[in-house]
Amino acid sequence: MQTFLVTLETPDGPHSIECRDGEFVWNAAARAGIQLPAICHQGRCLTCACQILEGELDQSASASYFPEDLEAGYALICTGRPRSNLVLRTHQQWAMRAYRKTRRLPAPYS
Ligand code: FES
Repeated sequence: MQTFLVTLETPDGPHSIECRDGEFVWNAAARAGIQLPAICHQGRCLTCACQILEGELDQSASASYFPEDLEAGYALICTGRPRSNLVLRTHQQWAMRAYRKTRRLPAPYS
């Protein structure tokens, strides 16, 4: 089974995990013992938002993910699957909500 190397730049420092092909990044992190923020697990609330520093994700399972989000380099890892090895900055929910508001897009809990 193909796996991807995902480096998570967290407030506690970097963590490198393996994510299986087709696995959501948030789930792979949890499997590795890294608890990241999340509420809806549907790609809607933005609580799990990350900034993409390197790589590409498949966000087709997300309930609410816009082309503008990709343009700005945001990922919703509760419903994001790697398409390549990744480097992600975690804990970006407030930055993503602020960005969404500037684009008049939904920003739940803001
Ligand atoms: S946990 Fe709600 S968008 Fe990811």
